[in-house]
Amino acid sequence: MKKKLILGIESSCDDTAVAIIQQNRCVLSNVILRQKIHKEYGGVVPELASRFHEKNLFLAVDKAITSAKINRYQINAVSCSLGPGLMGSLLVGVSFAKSFSMGLKIPLITVNHVQAHILVHFIKKANINNYSPKFPFLCLMISGGHTQIIKVNDFFKMEILGSTLDDSVGEAFDKIARVLGFSYPGGPLLDHFSKNGCSNKFMFSKPYVNELDFSFSGFKSHVFQFLNNQSKKDSFFIKKNLSDLCASVQKTIAEILLEKMKKATIKTGIFRIALAGGVSANNEIRRCFILFAKKNKKWKIFIPKKKYSTDNGAMIAITGLLKYEKKIFDSINITPYSKLKKSF
Ligand code: KG4
Ligand code: ZN
Repeated sequence: MKKKLILGIESSCDDTAVAIIQQNRCVLSNVILRQKIHKEYGGVVPELASRFHEKNLFLAVDKAITSAKINRYQINAVSCSLGPGLMGSLLVGVSFAKSFSMGLKIPLITVNHVQAHILVHFIKKANINNYSPKFPFLCLMISGGHTQIIKVNDFFKMEILGSTLDDSVGEAFDKIARVLGFSYPGGPLLDHFSKNGCSNKFMFSKPYVNELDFSFSGFKSHVFQFLNNQSKKDSFFIKKNLSDLCASVQKTIAEILLEKMKKATIKTGIFRIALAGGVSANNEIRRCFILFAKKNKKWKIFIPKKKYSTDNGAMIAITGLLKYEKKIFDSINITPYSKLKKSF
């Protein structure tokens, strides 16, 4: 019997991403068209994001089909992000998926963007067995829109154990990076400039937040205030100390996240830890978690490839495939949602 093929469409923010996955969980193609226009505005402009999705999506789908060396009639189902995200951006992807499903008479499968970030851990890694975490595991979901600790009991049974009370960690990265002079999104640039920096040069206080919740708003303000005070004394302070500032900020964020995950493992007795979301591409966060897991043999750590950390089509395709196997399909009347759900 022929292996089934699922098309995945991600359009919840500013990246137009499309992938094709095969039933054996191997990704055949993973196309991403980034929208550079937002750099000029210092953040994503929703109206422009939807316009560019509309322009790019046909191109991305075409490219994904061609590079997978298949034709569209071989695709068995189409999956797309339903939310959370920017409503205009989601509407473009969802409308396209509906038409594609109707045109080819194949099932429509809609996907929660946060769940999809987590389920990248089930994409097959070439020639590696036991590449996915066993259930239950804890996932630190860190992105531009979300900061959560999630207990993953099964593919579609997830419990939120802790969340940010204010800003997401990605927002903290991007806003601090902006003050340091980087363009949007500043997280990857801050990471890059940290490479040659001394992470112990500057100390920033960590927020005290109860249980497994996070707060990054106070931390961000503390960094802003510090930079402001120092820049008053020396207007070249940021320029002179850029790498050390980046490294110090990044290290503090990594420590905040690691401390919370240590708490979560003790509270739940679960020591399988997965990272997910765009911020999990950060080199210092990866290093800190890997190092801690090396010293603490109870910990088993799962970190996605960088191309599967940030928004991508493969995460929607793998989630679509897992739903396809359970025959979880959607009707054509389904509509996107912009807000983060309190539970899955
Ligand atoms: O998951 P994602 O691509 O989109 C959302 O669902 O939000 O995450 C985007 C976020 C941005 O805030 C971006 O600055 C951050 O991930 N990010 C990073 C790195 N790569 C992406 N933050 C720190 N270091 C990185 N290397
Ligand atoms: Zn995302």
